Order: sequence, then structure tokens, then C-alpha cells
Amino acid sequence: MQLITNIGLLAGIQPEGVLRVEGPAQGRTGVLENAWLAIEDGRIVDFGKMDSLTTPGPDREQLDARGGMLMPGFCDSHTHIVYAGSRDGEFLDKINGLSYEEIAARGGGILHSADLLHQTPEKALYRQSLVRVKEMMKKGTVALEIKSGYGLNPADELKMLRVIRRIRESVPAAVKTTFLGAHAIGRGYTHEAYVQAVIDMIPAAAEYADFIDVFCDEGFFTVEDTERILLAAKHLLTPKIHANELAVSGGVQVGVKHGALSVDHLERTTEAEIEALKGTWTMPTLLPGSSFFLGLPYGRAKDFIQAGLGVALASDYNPGSSPCGDMRFVMAQGCIKMRLTPIEAFNAVTLNSAYAMGISEQYGSITVGKKAALILTEPGWDLTKLAYQYQTPFIRKVFF
Ligand code: NIG
Ligand code: FE
Repeated sequence: MQLITNIGLLAGIQPEGVLRVEGPAQGRTGVLENAWLAIEDGRIVDFGKMDSLTTPGPDREQLDARGGMLMPGFCDSHTHIVYAGSRDGEFLDKINGLSYEEIAARGGGILHSADLLHQTPEKALYRQSLVRVKEMMKKGTVALEIKSGYGLNPADELKMLRVIRRIRESVPAAVKTTFLGAHAIGRGYTHEAYVQAVIDMIPAAAEYADFIDVFCDEGFFTVEDTERILLAAKHLLTPKIHANELAVSGGVQVGVKHGALSVDHLERTTEAEIEALKGTWTMPTLLPGSSFFLGLPYGRAKDFIQAGLGVALASDYNPGSSPCGDMRFVMAQGCIKMRLTPIEAFNAVTLNSAYAMGISEQYGSITVGKKAALILTEPGWDLTKLAYQYQTPFIRKVFF
């Protein structure tokens, strides 16, 4: 049993059974000042105000929070953190004004990452990727989703999925796995042949993955392709869809139709997408890091919330559109660029992001019974300051 005492602010308290927050509820979270929290077998077993704390027994390992804030760790429901090498060679092209599509059309982009991944031995891919996962864990990420999608042929997609599994087995953070064979058309395939190849990869991928994703966007995969792939994966893998990044793609609607747990990106959203999401279990997930890096519009987070929906925010950590997994920066961008309140942004990077990878029964809030996957800050922090003073080191300890 571990007891954390003198917590200046215990933030992110939710009652049991709240798996996501939507509409006005996204702007609220429970807090307790001057609190304690008890952990047993890695789970939160109780918490309360310091003045309610009875003298703990000798079996209790104690940690004095010295007035720091204790909050749920960040949950990052959308990453492509397993990749080989770097795409810093394209950085200058980008700075010089080439768009994401233009860079891809020149043989850069996702296909370049696929070439690098093909040449990289599995062990090296694991080691390179693990460095990034550890960086994120140091920055307070306690749970993350990782996608395949830089293999783009059966052997290399499976190589990626094995590496994700090995990462999952070697870190204390929770890892969810997504098969994103349909990320781009693999080299040497026609469009049609590659869609069929993705469909043929599904049974083997399902041995490793929890989810299936399709890059349903202009120049990549159509709504019809997406539908075929999702139907082939039905009962095997739950969809999470890349939609509406480059164009209003129909990806939201096809995702909702096939029970997607989340639809992600949504830089380009009309009222029709917001309507399509109402009353569904699908979580709109916005990725401000890629808006920042690619100079795209920011997702309409506020409009989703005003329509009564919830939003999640994730990092999209990847070499081409968001080479950064810093969830506090994501939270700050949610506030500054999407005009979310700090609490709305906080819920977006904790509970709602946990929901968007199917783990919010265990992660994403301070709730008795949930994993004690927590961030303890230095003294003097609160949720507003977290987003406002977004580069000042704040973490004292991360609990997994
Ligand atoms: O989420 N949009 C598609 N996929 C990634 C980018 C991948 C890459 O450029 O390597 C994204 O932004
Ligand atoms: Fe992505």
C-alpha cells in the first residue's frame, strides 16, 4: 500500500462509470485541495482531504507530495511512433512551401518512411521507436496507441506489428495497437491490388492489433475502399479512422456507419460531420500537432463541444506531420488555437483520449478502482497553469 499525502491539488476526479465527457461536462472535472490518495497493487483504492486522514499503519509506504498537483497521466490515442530513421530531409521542402501532398507526390512522405522501414532490421526499429516511447513517458504519457502503416506490404506491416507488441511488453505504459495497412498505396501495387492486399492482411494483423485504421482522404483511400476494408475486418478489429485531414472526405460518415471508436484529424469539418457524430459512440479526435506542423486549419473543437459532443486530443506523433509527442503542448494548442478551456483540454488529453482507445474504464481520471497511472507535479501547479505556462518543467514523478 502506498499513500501520497499533502497533495496541493488532486485534479481529474470522476465518478465511477463515466467513460467520456461530452458537451458542458467536458468543461468540468472534480478537484480536491489538500488531499491524500492511496494506491494498492497499482490501483487507486481511496482518496480524500488531509484532515480526514487517519494515522496510517506502518505497512504504508508514504510519499509527501509537498503541495504538488496529482492528476491522471496523459493518454495519447493516436500515434505513429514506430518508424525508421527520420524525415528531416523533407523539412526544408516544407519550410520552402511544399505541401504535404506535394512532398508525397515527389516520393517523400509516407512512402519514404516505408522505404526506410524496409531497410531497417526489426531490432533497430524497436530500439529507435522505444527511445521515443520513453521520451513520451517521461513527459507524462501513461497510455498510448501505436499504428502500423509504414510497412505497406505484408512482411513489413507484420514487422511493425511485432515491434509494437515488443514495445507493449517492455514498457509500463499501456499500449494499444492499430493496423493501418491502408496508410498509402504500397510500392509496386496498383491501387486496387493494394486494397485487396490490405484485406488479405487482416487475419494476420488481427493476431496483434486491437483496431483497424484507414487513411480515408483525398489522394489516399476512398470511402468505397474504406468500406470494403472495414467490412472485411468486421468482428475482428474495431475501426479508428483517419478522416478529413486533407479534404472533406466522407471518412467521418463511413467511420460512424461502421462503429468506429474514433474518427481522427477532422481539420476540415462541416456541419454534416458534426450531425453525423451526434448520438454515436464515436469520439472525434483532433490532432493540433499536425495542424501546427503542416499549417493546416485547427479542428473545430469548440463547435463539437457546443453540439453536445466530446472531443479527444492526441499527438499524432509521426515523422511527417507531427514529430512531437508532447501532450502538454497538445493541451496548450487545444487552448490557444482551438479556444478550449484548460479543463476541456485536460479532459481531451486524459479521459476522452483514453475512451478513444477503449481503455477509459482503467485510465484517464482519478477514480477508485482505476490504474494509478498518475502525474505528480512540483508544488504550485494547477490545470490552467499547465496549459498556460506550457514549457516550464512541471513533473516530479510519473506513476504507471
Ligand atoms: O496522421 N495522415 C496520415 N498519416 C499521418 C502522417 C504520416 C506521415 O506523414 O508519415 C498523420 O498525419
Ligand atoms: Fe495519424
